[in-house]
Amino acid sequence: MRTSWKELIDEINGCEKCRLCEKRTRVVPGEGNPNADLMFIGEGPGRDEDEQGRPFVGVSGQLLDRMIHAIGMERTEVYIANVVKCRPPMNRNPEPDEAAACLPYLRSQFVLVSPKVIVLLGKVACRYVLGEEAPISRMRGHWIERKGIWFMPTYHPSALLREPAKKREAWEDFKMVRDKLAEVGGIGKVQE
Ligand code: URA
Repeated sequence: MRTSWKELIDEINGCEKCRLCEKRTRVVPGEGNPNADLMFIGEGPGRDEDEQGRPFVGVSGQLLDRMIHAIGMERTEVYIANVVKCRPPMNRNPEPDEAAACLPYLRSQFVLVSPKVIVLLGKVACRYVLGEEAPISRMRGHWIERKGIWFMPTYHPSALLREPAKKREAWEDFKMVRDKLAEVGGIGKVQE
């Protein structure tokens, strides 16, 4: 477990623990407020993220930014990371051994950021972070508390782009996140 950001980010950037390092352009460690109350976890970098070395900068990232705004927050106030830090070829889901190799980095990020609330974007994040296999349509909208951290599963932004009808449910989830942050003393603002 890495205890300083510099040590951790250097290690992630040089990582060769799984095959995903072979095809990457850039590593995408994560970014945002290192003391955020709210953290978002996606599954892994896509093409834009792989080119820029930053999480959620493509079209699904733009939607995520709008949703963060809609709960009265800025992207710079939250921390954003992924289950795997290198792009899976053709944007396939990470394999279990790839996720297992990478998850210690995410655990170190949890420890360093120490968020109060974590939003899990999609089924892959739920599976690897919580070990939950239920469909995301069933898990979303329900809080899961582990070791004092509140986890909210919701749809991945790319699923919302494919199926805009799901945006209404995702907005309900984001409002629950905003209200939970206010309840636990985070920086979410109570506004409709
Ligand atoms: N999808 C993800 O899961 N993560 C990103 O960083 C971008 C797209």
